[in-house]
Amino acid sequence: MTEVVHTPRVFSGIQPSGNLTLGNYLGAMTRFVDMQNNSGMPTIFCMVDLHAITVWQDPAKLTNATRELCAGFIAAGIDPEQSILFNQSQVPEHAQLAWIFNCVARMGWMKRMTQWKDKAGKNQENASLGLFAYPALMAADILIYHATHVPVGEDQKQHLELTRDIAIKFNNDFGVDFFPVTEPVIEGAATRVMSLRDGSKKMSKSDPSDMSRINLTDDADAIAKKIRKAKTDPDPLPETYDDLSERPEARNLVNIYAAMSGKTPQEVVTEFAGQQFGTFKPALADLAVDKLAPISTEMSRLMQDTAEIDRILGRGAERAREIAAPILKQTYDIVGMIRS
Ligand code: TRP
Repeated sequence: MTEVVHTPRVFSGIQPSGNLTLGNYLGAMTRFVDMQNNSGMPTIFCMVDLHAITVWQDPAKLTNATRELCAGFIAAGIDPEQSILFNQSQVPEHAQLAWIFNCVARMGWMKRMTQWKDKAGKNQENASLGLFAYPALMAADILIYHATHVPVGEDQKQHLELTRDIAIKFNNDFGVDFFPVTEPVIEGAATRVMSLRDGSKKMSKSDPSDMSRINLTDDADAIAKKIRKAKTDPDPLPETYDDLSERPEARNLVNIYAAMSGKTPQEVVTEFAGQQFGTFKPALADLAVDKLAPISTEMSRLMQDTAEIDRILGRGAERAREIAAPILKQTYDIVGMIRS
């Protein structure tokens, strides 16, 4: 069989399940903007509301979080004319392909997913069926566009491997070379933003403590306060970045400073070597306020016109469907489903 060459295309998704954090911004959005502007590939970014409801979401909050995420994407530099920006549930082909993938993926594969084990916790019997099938929907998100490049955090690597397994099994089962085997584009170490209270945990919108994260909607006072109160240790900053390997909280603050200033972590350490966190934190707070205040201002401006946001999402969904519908159609043909 001749190898089918797939047009390179970038896809990624973020769940609209709460506040957008500095982690989303530095870990995901700035990379998405970079791929939009510099990769030379078409870029598709999705608010994955169908994934969000695998755990309970209050309906009014889901609506608001979806709009806020859209505003966040735009404020961070995603151009909804250049990229395709939309919410998942407006493109029914995602759920339709996900059903087919539910029939391709094996129970054993899903049971091995660490995110399933973490999120379902001790009481798996009581988790939603959707939470179990989450990775098959994620595979559908990617493969319904024949996306070849998927920028995600380290924690999503296993899901991308499963996406490859689903593509390979589908192609094998039906004797086709139809779905591409997707490349993960994993984030660099510097952009992995950790909790401000515990340097071993990822900064997360679902952490019960609001002090653990910087939200993109936080004002200057809140940002400065959270950085001032961030957990550190009593030692001064060392001469070399490697000396921070056993100091996760200190390292995290240095990483955040580096990502926001465009410097390498080593350059930051050199600049502040020998100084206490009492000096470093105010400098970091100033930098964070400078960087984030314009984004939060732009987000609130966009959020004042929700009709315009909904129009942008609707237009994005139309453009997404232009790619997704023919791929679903071909998939149904391959599977042998009549469409008359
Ligand atoms: N599971 C991803 C996360 O929690 C979100 C997501 C859903 C996604 N579908 C995707 C990411 C497709 C990349 C591609 O971060």
